Amino acid sequence: MKDIKIESTLTVYDHIDELPTDIIELMDQAAIARKNSYSPYSKFSVGAAILLENKQIVLGSNQENASYPSGLCAERTAIFYAGSQYPEVKILKMAIIAGSRIHQTITPIPPCGSCRQAIAEYEVKQDAPIEIYFMGETGKVVKSHSLANLLPLVFDKSVL
Ligand code: THU
Repeated sequence: MKDIKIESTLTVYDHIDELPTDIIELMDQAAIARKNSYSPYSKFSVGAAILLENKQIVLGSNQENASYPSGLCAERTAIFYAGSQYPEVKILKMAIIAGSRIHQTITPIPPCGSCRQAIAEYEVKQDAPIEIYFMGETGKVVKSHSLANLLPLVFDKSVL
C-alpha cells in the first residue's frame, strides 16, 4: 500500500488589471457573454469566452430550463460551439466570469465538474493545454495553466 499525493498549482491575481491585455480582453468578452445568460431560476449568471488559435473568440452563457437538468452551463455552451464550428482549430484559453444577481460575488467561481470533464475532452483531443481563467463579478482572478490541472484522475478515451 502507498499513498499518492496529487498537487495542482494555480496562480491568483488580486485584480484583473494584473493580467496581460489579451486576457483582460477575453474576460471582457466573457462579461459581455454573461449579459446573455438565461438564468431565471438560479439567478446566477455565467459568461465564458474562448480564444481559438485562429484568433476567433467564441462566447457562451448559461442557459437554464424549466426542466432544470436540461439547462447548460456557460463553459459547455461555449466549448461545444467552438467544437462544432471550428473542429480543427486549437482552443487556447477560456475566461469565465460568474456571479449571483441576488448577492455580490467576489470570490472566483471555478467551472463545475461536468464542465471540467467537457473541457478535458478537447484538451485531450488537441493534445495541448487549455488555459483557464476564472473570477467572480469583481475581485481576484485565478489562472490554471491547463484543464488537467483542475481535474486530476481524468476519465478519458485512453481507458476505452
Ligand atoms: N453554471 C455555469 O454556467 N457554469 C458552472 O461551471 C457552474 C454553474 C450555471 C448553471 C446554472 O445555470 C447556474 O450556474 C447555477 O448553477
